[in-house]
Formats: sequence, structure tokens, C-alpha cells
Amino acid sequence: MEGHCELHFHSEDSALSPARLAEICAQRKMDGLIVAGAQVTEEVLRAAPQLRVVANAGVGYDNIDVVSCTARRIPVTNAAGTLEETTADHAFALLMCVARRVAEGDRFVRDGRWKSWHWRMLWGSDVHHKTLCLYGFGNIGRAMAARARGFAMRVLYHTRRRAGPDVERASGAEYVDRETLLREADFLSLHVPLTAETRHLMRAADFSRMKRSAYLINTARGPVVDEEALVVALKSGELAGAGLDVFENEPRVHPALLSMANVVLAPHVGSATAETRFRMARVAAENLLAVFEGRRPPNVINPEIYL
Ligand code: 8YV
Repeated sequence: MEGHCELHFHSEDSALSPARLAEICAQRKMDGLIVAGAQVTEEVLRAAPQLRVVANAGVGYDNIDVVSCTARRIPVTNAAGTLEETTADHAFALLMCVARRVAEGDRFVRDGRWKSWHWRMLWGSDVHHKTLCLYGFGNIGRAMAARARGFAMRVLYHTRRRAGPDVERASGAEYVDRETLLREADFLSLHVPLTAETRHLMRAADFSRMKRSAYLINTARGPVVDEEALVVALKSGELAGAGLDVFENEPRVHPALLSMANVVLAPHVGSATAETRFRMARVAAENLLAVFEGRRPPNVINPEIYL
């Protein structure tokens, strides 16, 4: 970005608090912001009256007060198209890991507990030929369907708006209602954005409708799941296990989850590969510079400001 604009880089590898970000915006008179995880709240926007663009180096933009940006006619952009395959890889890795007890096996070997080979050692659950249910069917959900085909899985999906026949044919995924999705899942993988409608989309009553042998995979957003209810369902055996990359109060993880052997935990790293993080950063920079150069940014998520 150097040569295109004056750059102020936050060199600590952690998100700034809204108060600190507001302070910096006020001091430095920021024209544009690139954020990865940091919250761009009303407080931040008030401190940056000259702000012209907010570029999110991520696809989910629940960290940004888009309504307030739109009211100020500030374009908000995301990194759509950069990380979907990578996140699906990670979701599938969690699925495989929890079903075949990979992390547990690793701990078992490292802890020196492997004294002899046993017939009953670390039995898991098959993945191939099982039913994968996708809650949400955007680019990540579709990338999951593509992976599932290689494992000869049956793929069902549910989403607010049913995909077109071409997409369904190409993905091999079948649209079902919510009830069927929950009832049929051997693996239920969440791929919805976090919005007011999807907060606690999965709660106690939903877990009780699922098979006791089912696994929940969440690489979407923590608050999509009522974490307390998930803990209860896992404790009572209503669910067989979970693979979780995201949590309700990150980086805090519900203490009960930490001691559950049938749960695989990851620190929100669905998009964390070298190739993808580079693409995400590049797309964020391109969107920001487009605005500085007077162009409409390619990944604008509030296009109504251009009407
Ligand atoms: C990011 C993500 O690491 O893009 C998303 O929605 O969850 C992750 O890829 C995180 O949001 C920081 O930008």
C-alpha cells in the first residue's frame, strides 16, 4: 500500500479495542480502515468523521456496524472469494478429527498412555457414506458439499433461500426443511453469517431433535450456537461430539468444553493459511485503494450508498 497512501500500521498482532481504535482514528485523522476482527462501532465512527472506507480482511462482517456506516455513506467491504475453500478444508478437518478421534489419539500417544495395542482402542465413527447436513449454503457450504462427495456422503442443506437447480445439481446437495436437516444429520456443519436472526440458531430444543450419534461442526460464528445448551447436550449424550473453531465469548471457551474428550477445539483459525491470509489482506487493500481512487470497491457490502 505504500506509495498509494500514508500508512499507519498497528503492529501488534491482536485486535484493537473500539476505544483504542477510536482514539487512533481521532489522532491520525484516518481516511480508511482495514480491520481483521477489530470492532468498528459507532464510537469508532464518531471519532473518524473523515472516514471514507472500512475494508474488512475477512468475509463475516458482524464486527462492523454496517448500519451506521451506511448512514454516513461509508462503503464497507469484505474479502469474499478469498477464504471459502480454506475454511471448508478446516471444517472438514474438524469433522474428520472429532469423528476419528485424531486429537485424542495424539494426546494418548504423547502422554505415554499407549502401552499396547487394543481391539477397543479409540473407536470412532465412520465419515464415508454418512449424512452431512449443511446449515447455510453459501460458498463455504457448497465447498463442504464438494468435499463430502469424495467421501461418498449424502449431503442435505437448509438455508433461507433455496439454491437454484443448477447449483443443486452441481453440488449434489438436496434441499430439506429445518426439521429434516436436524433429524437426518450424522454431521451438522454450520455455515451461516451471524445476524440478529441467526443468533442462537441452534439451541436446546434443536439438539434434542438430533441423533444421539450426531456431531456438530461450527466454523461460522460462536453466537450462532447457544453454547450453554450445547454443553448440556454433550454432557447428557444428546450429541456424540463437536468440532468447534468459534465460541460465544472468544477467546474465552466454556470451561466444560475444555474437559470433554469428544470435543475438538480450535482458536478461530478457519482461514489461517499463508496463501489465504495473503489473499485476504490483498483484497482488503484493493478495496480500500479503490475508494481512495474514486472507484466503487469490488466487494462493497452496502451498495445502497451508491444509489
Ligand atoms: C477472520 C473470519 O480470521 O472471514 C471471516 O469471517 O472469521 C476469519 O477469516 C476473522 O474474521 C478476522 O478477520
